[in-house]
Amino acid sequence: MNDKVDLVIFGGTGDLSTRKLLPALYQLHRHGLAERLQRIIATGRREMDSETFRNEAHANLQTFVPAKDWDTAVWEGYCQHLHYVRVDASDGGDYENLTQLLNADVAPIRLFYLATLPALYGTICSHLQQAGAVQEQSRVVLEKPLGHDLASCHEINLQVADVFGEEDTFRIDHYLGKETVQNVMAVRFGNPLLHPVWNNTFVDNVQITVAEEIGVEGRGDYYAKTGALRDMVQNHLLQVLSLVAMEPPTSLDPTDIRDEKVKVLRCLEPITADNAKERSVRGRYDAGAVRGEAVKGFLEEAEYKDADATETFVALKASINNWRWAGVPFYLRTGKRLSRRYSEIVIEFKKLSFSLFANDPNELTNKLVIRIQPEETISLHTLNKKPGLTRKLRLQPVELHLTEDPAQKGVSYDAYERLLLDAINGDQTLFMRRDEVETAWRWIDSIIAAWEEAGTPVKPYNSGTMGPGAATALVAVDGRSWYE
Ligand SMILES: NC(=O)c1ccc[n+]([C@@H]2O[C@H](COP(=O)([O-])OP(=O)(O)OC[C@H]3O[C@@H](n4cnc5c(N)ncnc54)[C@H](OP(=O)(O)O)[C@@H]3O)[C@@H](O)[C@H]2O)c1
Repeated sequence: MNDKVDLVIFGGTGDLSTRKLLPALYQLHRHGLAERLQRIIATGRREMDSETFRNEAHANLQTFVPAKDWDTAVWEGYCQHLHYVRVDASDGGDYENLTQLLNADVAPIRLFYLATLPALYGTICSHLQQAGAVQEQSRVVLEKPLGHDLASCHEINLQVADVFGEEDTFRIDHYLGKETVQNVMAVRFGNPLLHPVWNNTFVDNVQITVAEEIGVEGRGDYYAKTGALRDMVQNHLLQVLSLVAMEPPTSLDPTDIRDEKVKVLRCLEPITADNAKERSVRGRYDAGAVRGEAVKGFLEEAEYKDADATETFVALKASINNWRWAGVPFYLRTGKRLSRRYSEIVIEFKKLSFSLFANDPNELTNKLVIRIQPEETISLHTLNKKPGLTRKLRLQPVELHLTEDPAQKGVSYDAYERLLLDAINGDQTLFMRRDEVETAWRWIDSIIAAWEEAGTPVKPYNSGTMGPGAATALVAVDGRSWYE
């Protein structure tokens, strides 16, 4: 059970490795949780030796590890494990050096982390196998995006499955590594108080927002071909939605949890050309100001000037056609260059059908607000008496905070720490199964086809706002508003 693991990172010199993976591995060492890691072997196309790679990693960690967490003794221990091997993913011959290094000191488990172009995943897996680098206990971690539609996702999955079994395939969505996202299950299934009200009898609507302040800068032509729907909704928002809406699993076993999540995705009603206008909004940011700083519009960036069909914002009204959720809209929205950066789930409960109180209770509802970032908090919005000597009873909202600040208890960690640790330990609970990803793509494909058929326009919005006015209208026509 505590067999040693060699971790090989394809794309070990890239942005994700530099900003997230190598710092997360440093933190695992700092927390004494990396004892199973024998070696961390980064690969890339650049020619360099391990010493140069360690020096670069050291310099980068100064930027991406908080100064308060820096400990030279930890680094000295960590860097002993770091190696670099040059591998051009498409060149079968390059895998020999890697295999030689792996075979020089065989660890019982090999973990291949593919943090590079998804178009290379199939090629990498097949070259690893041909070079004899895949042994009995080998696992693969796949970064998103897994394809750009169902067909391409299916193709990548097939290629990977030629080499790695599903039980050894770990598809990452880093949102699932966040403490509060996991807390959704604890709150839902640990509290008898909430259990009876988690359905269409009591819930009025659910809102999931992932708002970013940043634009698309620095992501090459990837974003122009992708857009917000594929980049964010297909993975993060649908993963969160399935955790909120799933039935109680029969156990916390990864298979049981993932069985329930995929059922939710299967129940998503396809969006069609006939209803695309009422159920979806596409947007693209124009120039504006974010946090007081003037920013350019999407089409003003040289590399995107022809990408006028790409959305940087999307809002959807999703329906889950099952016993529990029929009739409850799930409003989803995500976008770039919005007024502030935050991710949040809001479960809004139904209003009382009759009010005893002087002020209008329609303004005030019970809500469970689950904040995923920047801070991770859960609060229950309740109503109680407005203090004072007035003759009539008046209501006021009061927030009950249900979470402690984990940072103050010294237990805060990055999602990648959690996910790397789980992959090292072979725990698939927080990774996506093949049928989950493919079912999510099927729904996303229905939306893209509907947009094409209906000619759904991409509506401009000013940077620094919460998207086009049509997104407000999408909810307002149902007599509701976004919680902000
Ligand atoms: N960056 C993020 O925050 C983030 C977040 C979520 C998911 N992802 C996903 O993670 C993956 C990597 O993203 P990234 O932002 O780190 O990309 P990146 O900065 O462009 O880095 C790409 C990495 O892949 C290597 N590479 C490219 N072509 C190669 C080839 N033919 N053979 C061998 N190595 C090759 C590069 O090495 P050389 O430069 O030496 O060739 C580099 O290490 C992508 O799938 C991305 O969608 C990234």
